[in-house]
Amino acid sequence: MKILVIGSGGREHAIVWKLSQSPKKPELFCAPGNAGIGQLATCVPIKAMDIEGVVKFSKENQIDLVMVAPDDPLAAGMVDVLTENGIRAFGPCKAAAQIEASKVFSKALMKKYNIPTATYEVFTDSPSAIAYLRRPEQKFPAVLKADGLALGKGVVLPENLADAEAAAIEMLDHGQFGDSSKRIVIEEYMTGPEVTVLAFTDGKTVVPMVSSQDHKRAYDGDKGLNTGGMGAFSPSRHYTPEIAKQCMEEIFLPTVKALAAEGIVYKGVIYFGLMLTPNGPRVVEYNARFGDPETQCILPRLKTDLIDIFNAVIDGTLDQVNVEWKDEACACVVMASGGYPLSYEKGYPISGLEEAAAKGTTVFHAGTVLKDGQFCNNGGRVLGVTALGTDLQAALDQAYAGVHCITWKDVHYRTDIGKK
Ligand code: AMP
Ligand code: GLY
Repeated sequence: MKILVIGSGGREHAIVWKLSQSPKKPELFCAPGNAGIGQLATCVPIKAMDIEGVVKFSKENQIDLVMVAPDDPLAAGMVDVLTENGIRAFGPCKAAAQIEASKVFSKALMKKYNIPTATYEVFTDSPSAIAYLRRPEQKFPAVLKADGLALGKGVVLPENLADAEAAAIEMLDHGQFGDSSKRIVIEEYMTGPEVTVLAFTDGKTVVPMVSSQDHKRAYDGDKGLNTGGMGAFSPSRHYTPEIAKQCMEEIFLPTVKALAAEGIVYKGVIYFGLMLTPNGPRVVEYNARFGDPETQCILPRLKTDLIDIFNAVIDGTLDQVNVEWKDEACACVVMASGGYPLSYEKGYPISGLEEAAAKGTTVFHAGTVLKDGQFCNNGGRVLGVTALGTDLQAALDQAYAGVHCITWKDVHYRTDIGKK
């Protein structure tokens, strides 16, 4: 069986790694992949947004299943086009991927179907947004969100009115996020621990995965700029069985039912970004895909064959699969290029990868390239050093033991993953 995974980051490496362990011994391809993925799959030089290229390659090579991992090709309808061409594809269709691609869509869906989330208003011009921000009852930080995809940077939390007004003008008048900020959402500020729960769904059955938490800020103590994620761990100690039950009843099932009521069959993974507020769990955001770096600490805990799950999701038979998890905890520490998320240098040789593997860690590559047989840094986030352990502390200790083996010029990582 031939499987093609679309994408090139640490998440895709973790997916390819998990698929490579299937007893079905699939032949794996990744477009475009990276140097680490290249150890397990054939990397093909097709960009993740090249829908025609992916269709052509899949036909020519008789690919049995295409797994679309990143947000942009999902939002652009890659799964719809593959399906129209008779190619089996895992991931939500374009209409379903709107839960991530449009905050206006997802907020309206939650409002209509009483799914708990922050109260909000939508704005398309800055004078109306500013008038709203000037209401006496407006609290700070305010929360302004670009409607569309913005590389994870479309949310700002200004501390005062002046900054909030400036942010509204940047987004609406100066096109800070291009078309993505032609509309914005201003919503209520929520407080509480943030937990990520990914779930498989075939549009009827919802199977939540184990919980996780990520660390978005660049530096220790949640200082510095927001990044794509500097580390993640699973499970979250905040996500108790009672809260899990409440989330299933009030958020997960109602979301899939709401989409179905709107005529949208959601098949794939839904990422529930949750805030456990004093008034109960609320949705911060939906994503239409596996999270990065959450996936790197979730898939190592999965016992079930991922191919069986993908097939059941596509065929609408997820109720017949018993999805099982290891009791162990898992931690993933991201090693980044110095300077990330701002500018950084590429091409430095990475040492210590074999020593880290000998310590029992799995190193997922996010941004590496092979030069003369040597792995070099080739992106902002470079590696995700991952380990299982009997509990979270054991997993963290082991992951950091791996991290301490690996280095390159200007390497940067957080030393406090798992401490929140
Ligand atoms: P998002 O891209 O929607 O996940 O937002 C990025 C981050 O902004 C989240 O992980 C939260 O930490 C924060 N955030 C988003 N919405 C809210 C909100 N309504 N209240 C408080 N924090 C928020
Ligand atoms: N870790 C956040 C995301 O995948 O969007």
